[in-house]
Amino acid sequence: MRAIIQDEYGDVDALRLADIETPTPGAGEVLIRVKAAGIDAGVWHLMTGLPYLARVMGFGLRRPKTKIKGREFAGVVEAIGAPGKRAHGFTVGDEVYGYCEGSFAEFVCARADRIAPKPASLSFEQAAALPISAGTAVQAVRDSGAVKAGQSVLVIGAAGGVGAFAVQIAKELGASVTGVTSTGKLELVRSLGADHVIDYTRESFTTGIRLFDVIIDTAGHRSVAELRKALTPHGTLVIVGSEVDAPVFGGMGRPIGASLKSPFVGQNLRMLAAGENAGLLHSITELVDAGTLAPVVESRYPLAEAPAAIRHWRDDHPAGKVVVTVA
Ligand SMILES: NC(=O)c1ccc[n+]([C@@H]2O[C@H](COP(=O)([O-])OP(=O)(O)OC[C@H]3O[C@@H](n4cnc5c(N)ncnc54)[C@H](OP(=O)(O)O)[C@@H]3O)[C@@H](O)[C@H]2O)c1
Repeated sequence: MRAIIQDEYGDVDALRLADIETPTPGAGEVLIRVKAAGIDAGVWHLMTGLPYLARVMGFGLRRPKTKIKGREFAGVVEAIGAPGKRAHGFTVGDEVYGYCEGSFAEFVCARADRIAPKPASLSFEQAAALPISAGTAVQAVRDSGAVKAGQSVLVIGAAGGVGAFAVQIAKELGASVTGVTSTGKLELVRSLGADHVIDYTRESFTTGIRLFDVIIDTAGHRSVAELRKALTPHGTLVIVGSEVDAPVFGGMGRPIGASLKSPFVGQNLRMLAAGENAGLLHSITELVDAGTLAPVVESRYPLAEAPAAIRHWRDDHPAGKVVVTVA
């Protein structure tokens, strides 16, 4: 099969298209014919091996443990590993989506408890944009219990992979949503349902003039002290993450600092460590079916151009998601 692989950590130049053996599904696994695969920040971190903390966490100290890139997919069940043909509730030919290691390939083996039927109304490309980013947004906004009807919610990075879903979910929960983004994406964020938008290139939202009950922070790497100025006295800050050039710990210092500070202040300061499982995928499907959640796919690249797709994600801050189309 064709796959985008990597022998050493590095920039996109470290990636190459190769012909490699098609994997065989083990016990509890399903072989998927990949139709499309999404790009997220994790693809970048596991490709570069940065921050170094990621290497220590088990992704490969000197070189990447998983050679094939890509962490989410939508595709069709091709074969089922032990214990049998209809194991795990899946049948050959089922259209599914989910989490995996190595989705920039024609085939990938995924654990059956990390996949679910694809939302029927969506194309494979749209479905591939969902698992990581929508799953993270569901946990940050809804499952954390942070957002309640009538509250004012600020989503920082509102046009990004996670932020675009966070806006839609907060709106559905009955919040008044303000989205922070750059000038060219203000209209998109409004179209996602935001009641108000803030262009962070022109306006600061941490002046303390306007306060929010909840802040969902997905970008900008602003200090916790600065974010607290925009929170009500008993408000909740959920730090999802942000990209920062800190080679050892990356953005981890900030959310850990916030969690340690939280017991000593009136505000609730939390970090999110998002899970990835079939239950979340079922939640996402329900939201899609109910018309609450719609993916924004900014661009599509063929498999051979996955390195260019990753470069585009990193350099150009696309609105929503970039997707690699495999078949
Ligand atoms: N905690 C977890 O378990 C978890 C799970 C998934 C992702 N994450 C992390 O969450 C972060 C966001 O992921 P993502 O996939 O949504 O990234 P993304 O698609 O790159 O989105 C980030 C968005 O933020 C905007 N932005 C950049 N600088 C900003 C600033 N100073 N103020 C406000 N907005 C700014 C960007 O566009 P503009 O610059 O044009 O506005 C972009 O739309 C990443 O760091 C990722 O690693 C964490």
